[in-house]
Amino acid sequence: MPDLTPLPSNLKALLDRLAQLSPRVVEATRIAGELARQLDMPVYLVGGVVRDLLLGRESVDLDLVVDGDGAAFARGLADRLEVPLRLHPTFMTGELSTPSGCRIDIAAARGETYPQPASLPVVERAALTEDLRRRDFSVNAMAIPLFSRSHRPAELVDLFSGHGDLAAGFLRVLHERSFQDDPTRILRAARFELRLGLRLDLAAEELVAQVVAEAVFDRLSSGRLRQELSLTLASANPSATLDRLAALGVTESLHPALQWGTAEQDRFLRLTRILERSEVEQREGKGRVALLLTAWVWDRPRSVRNDLAERLQLPAGARYLLVEGIGRIAEASHGLLTLGPRNLAPRVVSEKLRHLSGDELLLMHALAEGAGRADAVEPTPAGWAWREIAEMRGLQLTISGRDLLAIGFQPGRELGRTLEEIRGARLDRTITAEEELAMARQIFEQSEERRQE
Ligand code: CTP
Repeated sequence: MPDLTPLPSNLKALLDRLAQLSPRVVEATRIAGELARQLDMPVYLVGGVVRDLLLGRESVDLDLVVDGDGAAFARGLADRLEVPLRLHPTFMTGELSTPSGCRIDIAAARGETYPQPASLPVVERAALTEDLRRRDFSVNAMAIPLFSRSHRPAELVDLFSGHGDLAAGFLRVLHERSFQDDPTRILRAARFELRLGLRLDLAAEELVAQVVAEAVFDRLSSGRLRQELSLTLASANPSATLDRLAALGVTESLHPALQWGTAEQDRFLRLTRILERSEVEQREGKGRVALLLTAWVWDRPRSVRNDLAERLQLPAGARYLLVEGIGRIAEASHGLLTLGPRNLAPRVVSEKLRHLSGDELLLMHALAEGAGRADAVEPTPAGWAWREIAEMRGLQLTISGRDLLAIGFQPGRELGRTLEEIRGARLDRTITAEEELAMARQIFEQSEERRQE
């Protein structure tokens, strides 16, 4: 159960606390508070920042609700912070980013109605109470006024016992249709559970079961499903988050390809271990998500993977990796295995793996035949993939075409072939970097002799 820190008693103390916990958001909060007072417009901190403040955790983003003309307030704040503003009139929201890297969402207090399950809501201006009532969990439905006529600044507005739930460690929804309206909240819940040490209460778990039984996820747009799944895969511990979602019966309800069990856990573990290695170029954000998603469905038939790519409307790169990459890796592995170990000189292997992308090689190392053994080594496909990643692909010759021209080679095919030959010898380790030039001279002399014969 989380330990809560008492809320500061006034605005100044609140800003001091924010300055300690979340230096990135404090300046914008202070300026927003001053602006609210000048415009005589009630403005509240809401959602995650309030929850995190009580938990004593850092917030990087700020959500503000304005009980009044949200767009006017947003424009004023953007002016003061001297940053551009993006307004979304349909949702009565605006967003801006401060130079310190804090993202601020500003919204007019609003109510929402969902015409159909999992659809986007229709919004209309409403009182703060309504705005808090439409939210996902009680712990995210608290507000702190920066300026208000009816509340003292820094007084917690907690209409739905969010404070009590947070102290007890519960994620509780505010009404029975919450997950039907917005099933992405279930994936959010799994992330919050793990990140904040909270737990869906029993009633909420039953509502999840209903969403699964009624296949509500099928109604979710591709964009929203992709976005939420990406956030899950990009979270600090995606495997544990998916364990939880699988226990709730949710993963397969997202798409039939997304079964989650011990084989999938194992693949994630192998891949993430490799991604942490210093020899591997860091992959963050979308690149990492695409790799994890591909590892997830590694053993599903191509048609099923293709269906998933369609459902998620994956961008071209991620789609290619998921639909084609797995087959390309299998083909390359098969090619190496059928050649047999005797014929697998490094230069031959490198040639066979040349067409694979960096991501495909990583997956091959993590998941293809021979992977999972203590640091897979040749002569397994996984081991060869590693050698290609760590050694062969980046191998640079110390000499170039210019050196060959200086020896006497004519520009053309023979020069290219010679460079390839020398690279092959370096890969096979039959010469060292210092011997490259000597090898080039030797090849030149031999071809001169042949010409004279
Ligand atoms: N919200 C909601 N339903 C959603 C998404 C968001 O009710 N599907 C509400 C919650 O009140 C949430 C707020 O909008 O607190 C802001 O959403 P977001 O910034 O996505 O989440 P945070 O709660 O701020 O959490 P995080 O720390 O992950 O940013």
